[in-house]
Amino acid sequence: MSVATLQRKLPEPAPQRAELHPELNRAQVRFIGLGKTYQGQQGPVQALHGIDLAIQRGEVFGIIGRSGAGKSSLIRTINRLEQPSSGRVLIDQVDIGDFDEDRLVALRRRIGMIFQHFNLMSAKTVWHNVELPLKVAGVPKAERERKVRELLELVGLKDKHQAYPAQLSGGQKQRVGIARALVHDPEILLCDEATSALDPETTQSILGLLKQINQRLGLTLILITHEMAVIREICDRVVVLEHGRIVEQGPVWKVFGHPQHEVSKTLLAPLQHGLAPELQSHLRSHPESSEAALVLSLRFTGSLREEPDLAALFSALGGRVRLLQGGVERIQGHALGQLLLAVQGSSLGAEELRQRAGQWAQQVEVLGYGV
Ligand SMILES: Nc1ncnc2c1ncn2[C@@H]1O[C@H](COP(=O)(O)OP(=O)(O)OP(=O)(O)O)[C@@H](O)[C@H]1O
Ligand SMILES: [Mg+2]
Repeated sequence: MSVATLQRKLPEPAPQRAELHPELNRAQVRFIGLGKTYQGQQGPVQALHGIDLAIQRGEVFGIIGRSGAGKSSLIRTINRLEQPSSGRVLIDQVDIGDFDEDRLVALRRRIGMIFQHFNLMSAKTVWHNVELPLKVAGVPKAERERKVRELLELVGLKDKHQAYPAQLSGGQKQRVGIARALVHDPEILLCDEATSALDPETTQSILGLLKQINQRLGLTLILITHEMAVIREICDRVVVLEHGRIVEQGPVWKVFGHPQHEVSKTLLAPLQHGLAPELQSHLRSHPESSEAALVLSLRFTGSLREEPDLAALFSALGGRVRLLQGGVERIQGHALGQLLLAVQGSSLGAEELRQRAGQWAQQVEVLGYGV
């Protein structure tokens, strides 16, 4: 049974009325006031509170947050591995809340899922692991063979079809997991820490494969990860969860370039380059002599789309300008980065220097004197 035929009119809660936000009508996955409470051993655990979120078709959408923030609970309500305690989940505007078993089986075929620990059957070969869900669905043999062959080719495991999981590397196991998740041509692929058990090089190759699947098959990818570089590499938008609530969301370049919430700042800190400790220890809040350099931090948060013109910047600051640390990287075409500059012998005061630097960077901070 097609889920689209089950569509019915639903009243909208006031804050997110779809007629005021046309993108909500196009959303493929929508959470409305979603809450989840578990019955823990020490009483109820409220894992999610009032989640309102819309994910568009074809997006690569990242979910980040500290351990226990509610990421897995949220993603698992999309295919109803978890039943929400309150609120609703809409897939293509259809509320999946009251689906019976048959409709849930149909829904889960539209939504593939891959896991951190691959969840493969150790006694079955690669071929049979991928074939199994097709068998369960009663797909005829010839069709099964065509599909398994096509998917093993897609994930680059054509030669390994007779291998058992124990004979595969972590990356190869995850490729089997991806092939198996794609057997029913899903529209959405959920990835719960799909690369966390892999080394950096293998992570890169799995990310490349996921991105290729997103682009070639037009699949929506929703992924949870603790690796911020994964988000930076392939996601379009990201949401930050903390204690079961959304604390920040937006395009990756924006959230990474200028994180607003403390949790986002903490999670992204490993990607930011602070002043090296040996330089930090030389910094003073006041100049100890007229020779002391003023240390400025310039952040490029991507909103200007342009790399800094260093010659023009240095000449506007005057004096002798040294680059202590820094660099610029690109996310979704936006230039993001930080430059730590030491300005010495300029005729301008600290405030004037800060303002001039502000013509080149979105955020400028005076870190102190010295170095
Ligand atoms: N089956 C359960 N029974 C009771 N409490 C649960 C259950 N599943 C999750 N929780 C609790 O709900 C909260 C959210 O858990 P969840 O697994 O969604 O977090 P997470 O963000 O995925 O964390 P991690 O990054 O560690 O995977 C946690 O406090 C967790 O202990
Ligand atoms: Mg989790």
